Amino acid sequence: MKTDTRDRAMGARQICKALRDQIVGGVYGLDSRLPSSRALATELGVSRTTVTAAYEQLAAEGFIEVRQGARPRVAPAAIHQNPTGGARQIAGPVRLSSYGDRLRMIAPRYQEASQNLIADFRYGDLAHSDFPALGWKRAVVAAMANDPTRLTYNDPRGLKKLRMALQGYLWRARTLRCDLEQIIIVNGSQQGLDICARLLLNPGEKFAIENPCYTMGRHVFSATGATPVPINVDKDGLDTRQLAGTDARLAYVTPSHQYPLGSVMPIGRRYQLLDWAQQSDAYVIEDDYDGEYRYDINPVPPLYGLEDNHNVIYLGTVSKTLSPTLRLGYLVVPHQLHDVFAMAKQLADRHTPTMEQKALATMIENGAYESHVRQARRRNSERRETLLNALRHRFGDMIAVEGADAGLHIVVWFPDFERSLENDLVEEARKRSVGVYPVTPLYDPGCPEAHPNQVGLVMGYAALNIQRIERGIELLRQAVDELRIRKRASLTMAR
Ligand SMILES: Cc1ncc(COP(=O)(O)O)c(C=O)c1O
Repeated sequence: MKTDTRDRAMGARQICKALRDQIVGGVYGLDSRLPSSRALATELGVSRTTVTAAYEQLAAEGFIEVRQGARPRVAPAAIHQNPTGGARQIAGPVRLSSYGDRLRMIAPRYQEASQNLIADFRYGDLAHSDFPALGWKRAVVAAMANDPTRLTYNDPRGLKKLRMALQGYLWRARTLRCDLEQIIIVNGSQQGLDICARLLLNPGEKFAIENPCYTMGRHVFSATGATPVPINVDKDGLDTRQLAGTDARLAYVTPSHQYPLGSVMPIGRRYQLLDWAQQSDAYVIEDDYDGEYRYDINPVPPLYGLEDNHNVIYLGTVSKTLSPTLRLGYLVVPHQLHDVFAMAKQLADRHTPTMEQKALATMIENGAYESHVRQARRRNSERRETLLNALRHRFGDMIAVEGADAGLHIVVWFPDFERSLENDLVEEARKRSVGVYPVTPLYDPGCPEAHPNQVGLVMGYAALNIQRIERGIELLRQAVDELRIRKRASLTMAR
């Protein structure tokens, strides 16, 4: 009996401490309620009396307010408000693996979209109104209608139904032919890149990467401990001549629409790239992230399938066609890699959520996906046209535009402004409620000769309506004028 009382007191003390730490740490927001004593007791496997004792203690200390018949409420005064709204950071050294240490050095922080901007040209976002809500809803309902009797883990490679649908889609849309078992469904391209990085690179090895590049690609490969070899990009994409002698084990490329500069790699260069890979026994990762959006140009067949595909890995996503929030992408891997890719996927997260896979498969099967892609292409073509016209109208030949033939973004160069003014322009635009983003972080800082000494902006347009695009460019012009005045003033002062 005595032991029982002591155990209960210990349990109450521990629960009390855990909840106190959580409240202080900012886990609970204003007006949050804790679970009922019955629910928490069941959850923790202790008696209700133990939880009640913990709650009474917290109430006595002023952390919570308890009222008969209601769940305890966190006392407003107990909530630690910190500027970011998150939990308080715990200071002190952290012991991590070398992978973890590298992540702390290189990985970018998540940045929430800015609210209340008149025009946010942030690349990667899509318009909510473009999402085919009705078609998706129907597909989800259909997916739920034929649920099996048991809920089981599924094939790590993805549902057969979706892989079959994609097999047909890839052939129709991208002339890419592959066998069913070569397709692996992943949680967006990013997981595909992560799996490639883990399976194909060792610490100390080298990988070739476009300069400038998609930084999420550079980070995920660098995180393995491999070293980037930046390869310049010109009007034909990655300059394949620079690959010779690099000793790279892998090249990560965006040949259909180089990110961010937008060049399309012509067929001759594609063969050079494949030859290099073959001769060096290296892998090529072909990121076809926005291949669905082509406006003034003819499609170029993917690298994958140009030759016997022993070393090309193709990567696709629905982040540009449906939504980046779905986290749905796919890899097409050479036959000899298929097993190990499936194993890596299984160890990472068993498999991609089944419901979303079924819904996407249904949309592809019934034609709704391709019809949506055509519609999205039309809408984005309109946005692109508006943006280019507005830029022409407001800036004339003050600027140079790159990469407008395809995709959902362009790069705008301001030759009159040196690169050091890039952040000033971003700030001036922000003061006018316009979000624009500098190109500099996408360049390798170790190769200054590859980076034009001009202000450059990466401008995404897929999330904006026509009015916002036009107004945004009008305000950007005002920001540029302000910068010009400041530049002139500082030149006069210097004389
Ligand atoms: C070059 C490139 N690859 C891939 C992606 C898409 O990534 P995910 O499929 O992980 O959303 C993007 C998105 O912005 C991109 O720019």
